[in-house]
Amino acid sequence: MKILVVGVGYWGPNVVRNLVDFPEVESIGISDLDPAKAAKMVAKFPRTHVAKPAPEAFADGYDAAIIVTPVDSHAALAEAALSAGMHVLVEKPLTRTVDEAKRLIAKADEVGKRLMVGHVFHYKPEVRALVDLVKSGELGTVKYLDSVRVNLGLFRSDVNVLWDLAPHDLTIFEAVLGKQPVRVSAIGAKHVVHPTTPQETMVYMTLDYGDGTLGHVHVNWYSPVKQRLMMVGGDKKMAVYDDINTAEPIRVYDCGTYDAVADTPTYPALRTGDVHIPKIKQEEPLKVQLREFFSSIQEGRAPQTDGNAGLRVVRILEAAMKSLEQDGVFVTLD
Ligand SMILES: NC(=O)c1ccc[n+]([C@@H]2O[C@H](COP(=O)([O-])OP(=O)(O)OC[C@H]3O[C@@H](n4cnc5c(N)ncnc54)[C@H](O)[C@@H]3O)[C@@H](O)[C@H]2O)c1
Repeated sequence: MKILVVGVGYWGPNVVRNLVDFPEVESIGISDLDPAKAAKMVAKFPRTHVAKPAPEAFADGYDAAIIVTPVDSHAALAEAALSAGMHVLVEKPLTRTVDEAKRLIAKADEVGKRLMVGHVFHYKPEVRALVDLVKSGELGTVKYLDSVRVNLGLFRSDVNVLWDLAPHDLTIFEAVLGKQPVRVSAIGAKHVVHPTTPQETMVYMTLDYGDGTLGHVHVNWYSPVKQRLMMVGGDKKMAVYDDINTAEPIRVYDCGTYDAVADTPTYPALRTGDVHIPKIKQEEPLKVQLREFFSSIQEGRAPQTDGNAGLRVVRILEAAMKSLEQDGVFVTLD
């Protein structure tokens, strides 16, 4: 396969580094508005060459395009690449609006090509382990997911912190819960004001699943420490996923409350037991994501994170933006 990578700013070089390991990749065209960035990649990686900027490069006979450009450009570039007959993998979030995402899905159907979104956390071994843990029933019914994703920067000018970081949490929430929220609320603040494009740098988003299950996401670019911590509250056991702790990312706590002991003086009676740390085999999730892209092309099937998965995340982000603009009122997802 001849692959075109569009955009080698911050994230694109990671895509290129992983791509060169795939034997099915015959050559990699590197496209960037800044030819010096493309030339730097070509000097470093085998089987790469400098390609034209997009969309001009789409006419040059590539089999697939990987779009790693700022979010506002995703819809137009992906649509042009599909129209030119390529399979397309778009970095998260798929698009800026629900309408754009729907148009892309329809275009991919029309031309019979694969459309995939780079929800990289879906492919993370730690997240797969968490999903397996929930599916095994060990945690019981999951009552809540509570996530903190904060760091000092990276401040972006094209999107706010919600669009930058929360796609990761929403990807994990969907994988773990296997269901969609029915309404969403978000409040945020612009604590560090960008000179030209002031954006929220901190957001608290609450997801209501309509059946008592709650999700909460705290994203912040203005934090003294880096934290990527998620609590999974089951009614049998609870788990904590600490993405920073690569040696022991998941801890399962055998704790909770005893049932039907209303006559005890401190109802409900608390139960605290052992902590279990499952062993997780590491693999770079971006590599797993690219393998899934190529497998879906070779097998003629939808990738695990297809256009619809991208649409579901954009739908929640779009509703959360409406809530942000109305000071946190709950917005129903229809
Ligand atoms: N999965 C992850 O963990 C992760 C991490 C970071 C970024 N991302 C995503 O990757 C995408 C890019 O983010 P980034 O941080 O690398 O942005 P960036 O601004 O650092 O880089 C984008 C690059 O795209 C190039 N570009 C823009 N339009 C182009 C065009 N028409 N043709 C060719 N090149 C073009 C720019 O010149 C720039 O070099 C975003 O969607 C972002 O959300 C994902």
